[in-house]
Amino acid sequence: MPYAHITGWGMAVPKTVLTNEDLSHMVDTNDQWIRDRTGIRERHIAGENDFPSTLAVEASIKALQVANLKPTDIDLIICSTSSPEYIFPATACLIQDQLGATKAGAFDLLAACTGFIYATNMAAQAIRSGSIKNALVIGAETLSRFVDWKDRNTCILFGDGSGAFVLQASDQPGGVLSAVMHSDGSGGDLLTLAGGGSHNPATEATVHDGQHYIRMDGKEVFRFATRAMGQAAKEALDLAGLTTEDVQWIIPHQANFRIIETAAKFLKLPLDRFIINVDRYGNTSTASIPIAAVEAIEKGLIKNGDKIVLVGFGAGLTWGALTAHWTGPLPMEHIVHIERYRTWGRIRSWLLRIARFLEGMIWGRNS
Ligand code: ACO
Repeated sequence: MPYAHITGWGMAVPKTVLTNEDLSHMVDTNDQWIRDRTGIRERHIAGENDFPSTLAVEASIKALQVANLKPTDIDLIICSTSSPEYIFPATACLIQDQLGATKAGAFDLLAACTGFIYATNMAAQAIRSGSIKNALVIGAETLSRFVDWKDRNTCILFGDGSGAFVLQASDQPGGVLSAVMHSDGSGGDLLTLAGGGSHNPATEATVHDGQHYIRMDGKEVFRFATRAMGQAAKEALDLAGLTTEDVQWIIPHQANFRIIETAAKFLKLPLDRFIINVDRYGNTSTASIPIAAVEAIEKGLIKNGDKIVLVGFGAGLTWGALTAHWTGPLPMEHIVHIERYRTWGRIRSWLLRIARFLEGMIWGRNS
């Protein structure tokens, strides 16, 4: 059975930074309150030309470069997102097209902020089963588009961005070791974006009621999160036959510094074994774990041979954790120039559009 190694990584965030001070001019809040209660100082917010797919493509190109793969080497793209560009087509298909990943299957996965763990696990399972060799797993968000900028309970929390991993099959032991995925739909109403789906299709009334905004019972979500994080991490470790002693780094979902602190206490680990960057990005939902991982790798914190735990929670309710043996990129035979392949992918995509248009015209004339 092949092993599923994490061989590439990349991240992207929008340029615009929104500080706590900026927010204090928008709602009744202040820097001290936000830092004390959440640990957040600033977050990146999408500009008008930033979308989950554009941020994801930037992150994915970096990840493919690290893994030394062409877009056409990718067999599967899973985009975990809580802010898809459309209900359909899937954001993963927009990414597939923009990358020129012409051989890839592509789908979105919705498990809110736990999505990246679910997606990485799904890709690892597909690789281990032998059905695919190379997968691109992405977390991508522009949740700022669903934030009610008059609601101080939520608008201080979220930020935008994307992170991506490349997973590859290898006969060498390592890569994803274990994963646990959990859900509890009875808590679904604690964190919702209720409007615009088939239950509450968008109407003047749903817009008037603000159903297109994120609504959250912060206290209850906090209570759930502090329980779920530590327990999930422990379960995934047990499943892999590891203890916290064997692990160099825990990479938690970056929602609130105090939630991470509680998870650390539960696991009896010092906070310096946790990768934390919530102060600079806020809660980027599915993108938070890969963004934290990429920063830690680029700073040289996560090294080849390290064992890591990814752990998260989110709306649904969902929670989960994954352990991995970090091994870095697979050995390379020659360097791939990814931009050349992307350009060809784009040309192919436009040729397909033109062919469809011409086919439609001919079919229309003949009918
Ligand atoms: N600025 C100033 N005061 C505020 C703000 C603000 N931004 N927001 C709330 N307050 C006030 C409240 O109105 C309340 O005032 P009151 O006592 O007069 O009623 C007081 O501060 C305390 O409010 P709480 O809600 O009790 O504050 P708490 O300590 O619980 O912190 C927070 C709120 C930060 C939202 C916290 O509950 C939390 O982080 N919850 C988890 C949220 C989370 O992680 N969500 C993401 C899930 S992942 C996903 O799937 C997207």
